[in-house]
Amino acid sequence: MTNQRNERALLLGIDFGTARTAVMSNRKAKGIMHTVVGYPRDIIGVKLLNRTQVVGDEAIEKRSFLDLYYPLEDGVIKEASEKDLDAARELLRHVIAMAEPKAGDRICGIIGVPARASVANKGQLLKITEGLMDVCMAVSEPFMVAYGLSKLINTMVVDVGAGTIDICAMKGAIPKPENQLSILKGGNYIDQLLETAIRDAYSGVQIDQHLARMLKERHAFVGTPQEEVVVPLRVNGKPVDLDITEAIRVTCETIVPDIVENIKKLILVYSPECQAEALANIVLAGGGSRIRGLGAMIEHHLKEYGNVHVTMVADPDYSGAHGALKLAMELPPEYWGQIGEMVGG
Ligand SMILES: Nc1ncnc2c1ncn2[C@@H]1O[C@H](COP(=O)(O)OP(=O)(O)OP(=O)(O)O)[C@@H](O)[C@H]1O
Ligand SMILES: [Mg+2]
Repeated sequence: MTNQRNERALLLGIDFGTARTAVMSNRKAKGIMHTVVGYPRDIIGVKLLNRTQVVGDEAIEKRSFLDLYYPLEDGVIKEASEKDLDAARELLRHVIAMAEPKAGDRICGIIGVPARASVANKGQLLKITEGLMDVCMAVSEPFMVAYGLSKLINTMVVDVGAGTIDICAMKGAIPKPENQLSILKGGNYIDQLLETAIRDAYSGVQIDQHLARMLKERHAFVGTPQEEVVVPLRVNGKPVDLDITEAIRVTCETIVPDIVENIKKLILVYSPECQAEALANIVLAGGGSRIRGLGAMIEHHLKEYGNVHVTMVADPDYSGAHGALKLAMELPPEYWGQIGEMVGG
């Protein structure tokens, strides 16, 4: 009986992020999309779209006639208006559809939430999954990354996301709140600073946060530049090549002191004999881990702590979803209540 139930279970690992949401299933489905819902501005938009809302990457493509709506802010669901909850629900519906469930499947999903998500936030998230999934559990995002890497002890995960940077000290058990920290400065924060820095450097330059993010994603680095970053932009409508090397370096480096200070804080949760091993096992994850030179700069700032070693996950887009799926496949849903907040079962 149990076996029959398991055979029909569609297991999902979902990384529900501020910027992007990734999903992987036990049937090898894999997908990622922007965590955004677009609503047409007026009746023309409704006509162009033939719908009253559009989800994910299509919303970004068609943003010229849509109001874009990001339901996660700082990585947790915004204060619960009905519209926020509807948007979050639409996104999850879309993500589940990416995994191509079949009629009669028992849909069991593990969703990653930011380390600092409160019980209320998790409760809200689980509530919106009702009717979409049969069983659902919320676990902390950096813990999922660690689980996916099988680095469960004496490892620190630094997840540089869009809304937050989450740091988690793995100590061979499900991380408790005191073993996790969140910094409210992620990629979005860098984008805002970069937009301002470029505008301040070149008067009349045309730049918005979206363009700043694209430039950052192409050229982000900290420390010594490998080459000058010269990009084609427009000043008062005319095309001009502008040097944004300093603007990129300075704005990307703004997150480093917070990361370093919080690693120094969190290392103290380990006993002294474990600290050396934990410092030699720092893992960068999340889209921001692609900032060139970030690991080396963190190592440099911690040099008085001895041998500090920072590595990067192989695939920052899917490392969270992969860990969540691994957990879902290794632990029968019947036991999920023991490690996270859950509904269904
Ligand atoms: N090559 C790159 N260089 C620097 N930053 C990048 C790069 N690629 C993506 N990013 C940034 O990474 C962030 C997205 O990372 P990720 O998908 O891990 O975030 P998220 O999970 O949606 O957010 P959060 O974890 O805060 O909820 C964005 O700010 C994006 O601009
Ligand atoms: Mg994330």
